[in-house]
Amino acid sequence: MQEKVNTLVKNATEKIEKANNLNELNDLRVKYLGKKGEITSLLKSLSSVSKEERPKMGKLLNEKRNEIEKLLKQKTQVINEQKVEQKIKEETIDVTANRNKYTQGHLNLINETMRQLEELFLNMGFDIVSGPEIDTVENCFDDLNSPKNHPSRDLTDTFYLDKNVVLRPHTSSVQIRVMKEGNLPIRMVSAGRTFRNDEVDDTHSPMFHQMECLVVDENVSLANLKDTINIFIKNMFGEEIKTRFRPHYFPFTEPSLEVDVTCPICKGKGCSACNNTGWSMELLGAGMVHPNVLENCGIDSEKYTGFAFGMGVDRIAMVKYGLDDIRLLYDNDKRFLEQF
Ligand code: DAH
Repeated sequence: MQEKVNTLVKNATEKIEKANNLNELNDLRVKYLGKKGEITSLLKSLSSVSKEERPKMGKLLNEKRNEIEKLLKQKTQVINEQKVEQKIKEETIDVTANRNKYTQGHLNLINETMRQLEELFLNMGFDIVSGPEIDTVENCFDDLNSPKNHPSRDLTDTFYLDKNVVLRPHTSSVQIRVMKEGNLPIRMVSAGRTFRNDEVDDTHSPMFHQMECLVVDENVSLANLKDTINIFIKNMFGEEIKTRFRPHYFPFTEPSLEVDVTCPICKGKGCSACNNTGWSMELLGAGMVHPNVLENCGIDSEKYTGFAFGMGVDRIAMVKYGLDDIRLLYDNDKRFLEQF
C-alpha cells in the first residue's frame, strides 16, 4: 500500500504541475480527493490493512491528502495570477496612440470677445445683466423715445412676431427693463444676440451681437462717457489706439455720438483694410440718456442724468482680430478658427 500511495502522489504532483487551467485542476481534485477519488478510496480500504499498520497508514494518507490539497491550492493561485497578467497585457491602452486626433478647441471669437468685454466692465464695477431676445415694441422703441415713424420700426428693418412683439433690433431694450426696475444708481452692461432684416454682406448679418452699457446717477456727465469709452477701447485694442467722437442722432440720447477707432492694422496711417482713411468702421453709438427716456421709466430727469452706449460685438471682434468679412465669424470653418 505504501508503494501505491507513493506512485499516486508522484502522479498527482506531476499532473497538477502540468495543469494549464482551473478546469483541469478541478478535474484533478475530483480524481484524487473527490468522494470517489483515489485517496478517498484508499482511505476507505484501510479496513483491509492489518490492525498494527492501520494507524500509520491512516496518518500517511491524511498527510498525503493535505499535501495534494496544498499543491492544488498553490497551482490555483499561480493560474489566477497568470490570468490577471494576461488580461493586463491584452488590455493595455496605448495613451500615446492617435494623440493628434482630438485637440482642444476654444470659444468662438464672438463669445471670446463678449467674455473679454464683460470681464473688463466687471472690473470697472459694472453689473452684468441679461435681457430677452424677444421683446415688446414698447421696450424696443416706444419707451426709448423712438418716433412712431422712425425708419428702424419698419418691417424692412425689424422682425415682427406680431404687432407688439419683435426680435429685438438692439440691446437698448435692456436699458428700459433695468430702469423700470427702479434700483438707482445703475451701472450695467448687457450683451447678446440682436436681429435686423438685413441682407448678408461682408459687414452685415441678420443676426449679430451687441453690448449695451448704461449708467444712471446724479451728476453723470459727457466727460464720464468719453472717459469710460476711452478706457475700454484702450484695454481692448491697445494703448496706441485713438478714438474719434462724431456727432450723430439717436432718439434715445441727447447729445448723441458715434465712435470710431484708429485702424489697428496700420495704426492710423491708412491701408487697404481701412480704405486709406486710417479709421476703422463705426463701432458704437453713444450719448447722454434723453430726459424723455428717464421719465418714461419713472426716473426724475431733474435729479438724475445718465450715459449709454451700444456696440457691435461682431465689429469689435473683426477689428480686434483683423477680419475683413463678418461671415468668417459664423461659418465655423475649422481652418479659419484654428488660427486664433
Ligand atoms: N441702439 C443703437 C443701435 O443699435 C446703438 C446705441 C446708440 C446704443 C446710442 C445706445 C446709445 O445705448 O446711447 O444702433
